[in-house]
Amino acid sequence: MNNLVIAVDGPAGAGKSTIAKIVAKKLNINYIDTGAMYRAITYKCLKNNIDINNEDEIIKIAKDTDIDFRDNNIYLDGQIVNEEIRTMEVSNNVSNVAKVKEVRYLMVDVQREIGKRNSVILDGRDIGSYVFPNAHYKFFLVATPHERGTRRHKELTEKGYEVSLDEIINDIIKRDEIDSNREFAPLVKANDAIEIDTTGKSIDAVVDSVLSKINI
Ligand code: CDP
Repeated sequence: MNNLVIAVDGPAGAGKSTIAKIVAKKLNINYIDTGAMYRAITYKCLKNNIDINNEDEIIKIAKDTDIDFRDNNIYLDGQIVNEEIRTMEVSNNVSNVAKVKEVRYLMVDVQREIGKRNSVILDGRDIGSYVFPNAHYKFFLVATPHERGTRRHKELTEKGYEVSLDEIINDIIKRDEIDSNREFAPLVKANDAIEIDTTGKSIDAVVDSVLSKINI
């Protein structure tokens, strides 16, 4: 692997994307939000009224979908869907879509292809453990469910969504459970990942701890 690959994994709302985006800018490398890919497929399934428990239908949709990242935008079949994929409806359903092995194969292919062509930091659940087991650097970010819920609540209410803190914490806990217990490529800390507990830490402090481990 010649390009630099940095994996950032961890449970829902641990701050992975915020940190990865800043680190990408500082290192001048690409950032890939792999969760956005699973969210985009989920959004398309919901839009097409697919039963989220019907794996065959989900696989059909996933095979017939084009997902791309350009300039920090996620494109679903050519349309930017940055906002549409962040709703509670998508959050509530995404882990059931992401547990389908064939869907993961398709998404992982795209992720590996991007890593082959560019230096990249990717955030997700299985980047260090499955997608790039030989990544140069692996981080695993954690925080208490209450802290993760509070951050996500702030983010969503600032965007104008009306959603309760309890609803968000429940969603986070439920997703973590499905993500950690799925059969294929579950959420897990890779043996060689550096764990950072972000509870009570500022964004700058977490970015500094990540950058302090990276020698390039
Ligand atoms: O941003 P947040 O922490 O809420 O989640 P996300 O990174 O947008 O990921 C949404 C969901 O996609 C997760 O709960 C997982 O079910 C799934 N996912 C996954 O299975 N594998 C990844 N590499 C990334 C996300």
